[in-house]
Amino acid sequence: MKESANSFDNIVQERRSIRKFDENIEFDHTVVKRSIDRAILSANSSNMQLWEFYRVRSSKAKADISAICLGQNAAKTASELIVFVARPDLWKDRQKKLVSYFQTIMPDRNDRKAKLTYKYYEQWIPQLYDVRFPWFHDLKMKAFILMNQKKPFMRDIFTRDVPIITHKSVALAAQTFMLSIKAEGYDSCPMEGHDSVRLKKYLKLPKAAEVSMVIGVGKGVPEGIYGERFRIPNEEVIFEL
Ligand SMILES: Cc1cc2nc3c(=O)[nH]c(=O)nc-3n(C[C@H](O)[C@H](O)[C@H](O)COP(=O)(O)O)c2cc1C
Repeated sequence: MKESANSFDNIVQERRSIRKFDENIEFDHTVVKRSIDRAILSANSSNMQLWEFYRVRSSKAKADISAICLGQNAAKTASELIVFVARPDLWKDRQKKLVSYFQTIMPDRNDRKAKLTYKYYEQWIPQLYDVRFPWFHDLKMKAFILMNQKKPFMRDIFTRDVPIITHKSVALAAQTFMLSIKAEGYDSCPMEGHDSVRLKKYLKLPKAAEVSMVIGVGKGVPEGIYGERFRIPNEEVIFEL
């Protein structure tokens, strides 16, 4: 096995969801900055980057958000909390920024690759993400699917699919973040156990934004590991065709 695979394996094996952190350590907050920088490099749908990361550092905000996380120890004892937010509503902003970027690297719109790229971001992306009128959006998508019966066509394009598409990318960023935190010598715990309505209100998020998870970070204590790691046997989850 390559040395890099060995190191990666150690990080993956050692990452656990830690429910209690040491509250008496000097926490190095720069690891969070570096880990978010790495998380941002995660694969994400159409490179739309429809995510936001809220760092919760002050004692007051940490206490407030821990309560919103149902008083979980993983939140209460964390040195820092990071809220991973899905922002499907920011699609227009991201689309604009991507198109401006393409204009710098592909100024000739007649080039074949450029044509496809601009078509994708200027025509298809708005079709998918503009869900201001859900009923109309879903009707249009149904029509697209009906017109494309003869060959494989993406079908998960309805109003309900847009937040799912966005959450998938945010979750990948969360995993990159947690592995990075472990690589930096710290621990983490992802939490979907929170009151999303109160959390959105606290962060002043718009209606269409969705909290994907809150991640507590710190130095784990041994009792923060609740048990041996258990996974369903490989033969029940891995299939070969
Ligand atoms: C999306 C998501 C939400 C989770 N929410 C919570 C939570 O609210 N509280 C908690 O203690 N653990 C939570 N976990 C941690 C899981 O319980 C944990 O990842 C799982 O038991 C496997 O253990 P491991 O992470 O130590 O390998 C969550 C994990 C994920 C991926």
